[in-house]
Amino acid sequence: MNLTFTEEQLMMQKMVRDFAQKEIAPIVDKMDETDQFPAEAVKKMGELGLMGIPIPEKYGGAGMDFTSYIIAINELSKVSATVGVILSVHTSLVANSIYYFGNEEQKQRLIPKLAGGDYLGAFGLTEPGAGSDAAALKTKAVKKGDKYILNGSKIFITNAGAAHLYIVFASTHPEAGPKGIAAFIVEKGTPGFSVGKKEKKMGLNGSNTCEIIFDQAEVPAENLLGAEGEGFKIAMSNLEAGRIGIAAQSLGIAEAGLQHSLEYAKTRKQFGKPIGAQQGLAFMLSDMATRVEAAKLLTYRAAHMRTMNQPCGKEASMAKLYASQAAMKTAIDAIQVHGGYGYTKEYPVERLFRDAKVCEIYEGTSEIQRLVLSKHLIQD
Ligand code: CAA
Repeated sequence: MNLTFTEEQLMMQKMVRDFAQKEIAPIVDKMDETDQFPAEAVKKMGELGLMGIPIPEKYGGAGMDFTSYIIAINELSKVSATVGVILSVHTSLVANSIYYFGNEEQKQRLIPKLAGGDYLGAFGLTEPGAGSDAAALKTKAVKKGDKYILNGSKIFITNAGAAHLYIVFASTHPEAGPKGIAAFIVEKGTPGFSVGKKEKKMGLNGSNTCEIIFDQAEVPAENLLGAEGEGFKIAMSNLEAGRIGIAAQSLGIAEAGLQHSLEYAKTRKQFGKPIGAQQGLAFMLSDMATRVEAAKLLTYRAAHMRTMNQPCGKEASMAKLYASQAAMKTAIDAIQVHGGYGYTKEYPVERLFRDAKVCEIYEGTSEIQRLVLSKHLIQD
């Protein structure tokens, strides 16, 4: 595996780094305080071509590789994990779902809007009774003429409310379990579809997390994604790419924690010398840096494999598992390095701590990653 980025990837890194400093850093604190969705920043991301990085130019995307897209999430998340997850769900779970599983008509009708940033995407899989056990979902879809009638609800849906298009999983044949699930494209304004309660979260403020409700929702049959019965596979295979995105988001949080800690440890003096020169914290910083580097290698290895179209389910789960835990541990240590100040909102590390936790939960908990990994270890 080549561990150096190409010219094109380096250009993406610089562009997103500059964008994040100029457009996102100034709004981070307000977004955290008010929980306001960063609509203006997302619009600018669309103008810069960031909402469809791995989508071919033919469908209005930037036509770049998957690694370039992961670089973008990583760079955004160093400044704001909120903006990182907005892009990750939109691209990995929505635009990619249509690109890989949609028919030509769906691709031409919808992908340019997603890739250009006119449409934001959301992914409706999780339900109150079906979180880790995603195949246990209860939302039903019944075909009536040229429509499917959907009934049920989904929870914890990232981007809901702000999104224009939702990929929704519902059962057409409940008796068939995972093989009875279908995927649907549900557009905002669909009769019978509404957005419910918005969650008040510990962190990732500014990222909408809402319930979505289907009450006799009328979805045109032409919006069936793939075939009936293919929904679960569509969800799982897109989550593979999604998990590399969350690994990159986690990596961004961990890198930010390390960066803030190094800056603080160099300037803060106690006992007559910088705290970073004292062995207790010097060792902690060394462990943080090693953890960040390991998370980076796992994340970019999985991204590289996906770029090369190699199967990477195992590597995606390893990256997501390790990087999310690295983010959490690095955020905890970053607070420790900052001492009492780290526990206040004067420094950003307490936000990193609140943002990091969910990375161990969404797109498959750490326990689910271990389950997926163990299946690969035994079967491959
Ligand atoms: N690609 C393609 N197909 C796959 C697949 C993959 N990666 N993984 C599984 N499948 C297929 C299997 O091959 C199988 O089909 P066959 O019977 O034809 O072989 C079918 O799917 C069922 O697979 P399993 O028997 O492994 O399914 P399971 O029910 O035992 O377990 C699970 C699956 C791994 C536990 C799965 O339910 C899972 O990943 N759960 C976690 C749910 C999750 O990640 N939710 C995320 C919500 S979205 C989100 O969080 C976004 C956000 O807000 C940020």
